Amino acid sequence: MSSGSSSQESGCCSPGRYQRDNLYQETANISSNLQLIPYTKLTDLTFINKGAYGTVYKALHSNWRIPVALKFFPKERHLMESERNKIFKEAEILHKARFSYILPILGICYEEENIGIVTEYMTNGSLNQLLHEENPSPEIAWPIRFRILYEIALGVNFLHNLTPPLLHHDLKTQNILLDSEFHVKIADFGLSKWRMLSQSFSDHKPAGGTIIYMPPEMYEPNLNTGRGSVKHDMYSYAIIMWEVLSRKQPYEGATTPMQIMFSVAKGNRPDLSEESIPSDTPYRDMFISLMQSGWACDPNDRPAFLKCLLDLEPVIQNYDDISILEGILQIKRIHSRFDGSPSFTDERPQQESPSTALMWVLCKRDQIVNQMTDACLYQCLDALISNQIILKEDYELIKSERTRSAKVRGLIDTCEMQGESFARIIVQKLKDNRQKDLQPFPDLWQDG
Ligand SMILES: Nc1ncnc2c1ncn2[C@@H]1O[C@H](COP(=O)(O)OP(=O)(O)O)[C@@H](O)[C@H]1O
Ligand SMILES: [Mg+2]
Repeated sequence: MSSGSSSQESGCCSPGRYQRDNLYQETANISSNLQLIPYTKLTDLTFINKGAYGTVYKALHSNWRIPVALKFFPKERHLMESERNKIFKEAEILHKARFSYILPILGICYEEENIGIVTEYMTNGSLNQLLHEENPSPEIAWPIRFRILYEIALGVNFLHNLTPPLLHHDLKTQNILLDSEFHVKIADFGLSKWRMLSQSFSDHKPAGGTIIYMPPEMYEPNLNTGRGSVKHDMYSYAIIMWEVLSRKQPYEGATTPMQIMFSVAKGNRPDLSEESIPSDTPYRDMFISLMQSGWACDPNDRPAFLKCLLDLEPVIQNYDDISILEGILQIKRIHSRFDGSPSFTDERPQQESPSTALMWVLCKRDQIVNQMTDACLYQCLDALISNQIILKEDYELIKSERTRSAKVRGLIDTCEMQGESFARIIVQKLKDNRQKDLQPFPDLWQDG
């Protein structure tokens, strides 16, 4: 892997020298040798998902000719030094934790204060999507479910064996990604910690509004001793195990996170009856005992991942490659019958490339919010609706906002979802209205 002086950079309409220098300094500060990927090399941006932290897009790397995933943190987030460092930290952790079952990082990109982490694109989305998707809801054969559980355990066990150990601390089915052959890639290291450095829990908050994977000792982290933090991942893993075996949402009946916390703190856990874990589940007793010890209230009673792997090895050895491939085929056949494609991530329709206008709008978000005039705003809305680029509902929603700036914010949020053609209209109207303070406008019309 090369760093700043890579030839990657020379061909791009790169950030200004000042920003480049800044970037080098920042990347040097965190001692990563990560490849720098210019934004302009990333084309065909398609929205995948908005996480708690950044927005994830699928993109095509125009030189490498492969799809990649870009976790993007737009300037609108007012990234502070500490936040920027967090992003670099996540990139660096992904880089240091390279392993068969960890999401491979390809590089980082940085332009006009916008930062993105570029990783391999996982065609089969997240485990959460696989387990809970509807229309279609494919059968998932036991061998493939067991292999997924086994590979998650291999991945986390590897992290815990690093020196110092790396604790993921945000294991959940949304953060378990699946490649084209349904092999596991653990993602989202935004909350992970090197064990030596993690004496404090004060920055630990329930991520993305989901509490179900969080062990009860973390509800009040300040009361905690260091021990809980080592066994945090095992608790989350036990819940994931339940979800994979039952294909249900944990604590489905609860309506608020408080209810779940209250119930879990009292010792309740997901249902282990035959209603949730069917009696014909292979190795049912072993899995139940693993789940029960994994989500034990006392962290000391939870096993290490090594023990878990030793329990899972005979299960995995019982299934040959053919049975796993058959399981994969079964899923793929159902998907292709429904949408003709093997991919079923939450994607919006493909947008035209490149995504110059979209990136420009997202980069300039604050300035556009401050400066777009009423006239320009309404011209945008009219053009969008007459070109059928905006849904009537979104159009009405934006118009119903009380202030001009709220309307513009709504317009840009919708643009982020809808993509390049939407953004081009915004750029065109800003130009038509001679909103010169927003210059330079992107030169869109040269690239078709
Ligand atoms: N490399 C990838 N390939 C395919 N989908 C991805 C990829 N990375 C993330 N996603 C999708 O985006 C979602 C959010 O990504 P994540 O890294 O977990 O971000 P956050 O920190 O915002 O939770 C994931 O749950 C998954 O659906
Ligand atoms: Mg996530």
